[in-house]
Amino acid sequence: MRFRAVDLRYGSGPEILRGLSFHLMSGSFQFLTGPSGAGKTSLLKLMYLAHPPSGGAIELFDQVVKGLSRDQMAAMRRRIGVVFQDFRLIDHLSCIDNVSLPLRIVGEEGKSVNANARELLEWVGLDGKMNSKPATLSDGEKQRVSIARAVIGRPDLLIADEPTGNVDGDQGVRLMRLFEELNKIGTTVIIATHDEGMVARFSHPVLRLKEGCLTRIQ
Ligand SMILES: Nc1ncnc2c1ncn2[C@@H]1O[C@H](COP(=O)(O)OP(=O)(O)OP(=O)(O)O)[C@@H](O)[C@H]1O
Ligand SMILES: [Mg+2]
Repeated sequence: MRFRAVDLRYGSGPEILRGLSFHLMSGSFQFLTGPSGAGKTSLLKLMYLAHPPSGGAIELFDQVVKGLSRDQMAAMRRRIGVVFQDFRLIDHLSCIDNVSLPLRIVGEEGKSVNANARELLEWVGLDGKMNSKPATLSDGEKQRVSIARAVIGRPDLLIADEPTGNVDGDQGVRLMRLFEELNKIGTTVIIATHDEGMVARFSHPVLRLKEGCLTRIQ
């Protein structure tokens, strides 16, 4: 993914991101840090095509993201897995159905979908919660369901917004290992986090956002 002089403002509000230029190499693993309100979630929204930039250009999967048809945008979005800061689980579906959803949306059916979802829920430590509804889960549990859902489609790009913000240290490390496994099989990973301890523990390059501008630390 490449950003060329990208700006972002919401409506007629102030500029949140200013002149961001960087290249996220395919297959890389990148942290994004910065103080609360710096614009991390906003930058991720540009990356997962939930908001257009107000200036500059974004290239994703070797295609300029501008003037694309709805179908082309949808096809791009299907290659992206997102862990939202606020989880966004579907309330009336069980954990296993939430996790299976990305595969069902693209027409996959049957036992293998369930088995896949089950395996991921076990991986994130939710063996006992397969049939629970999101409302009955703690925030850390919801976060783990949302991670399982984001990775089940083996996305080309995984974008995670504070994915370890609601779990304890050991769980956080375990989740990071899951992201690393995914990265090893080719997924490009970007993780926004406040957690400097996590950033220090894993040696991946860091993009640091401050007052709407980016610095890159290798
Ligand atoms: N939909 C929106 N409309 C208007 N302003 C917004 C919107 N979303 C975010 N902002 C503003 O953009 C700025 C950056 O917010 P953003 O959520 O991207 O920060 P963040 O770095 O993710 O913060 P945190 O670490 O608290 O999650 C803030 O000043 C926020 O008020
Ligand atoms: Mg945020």
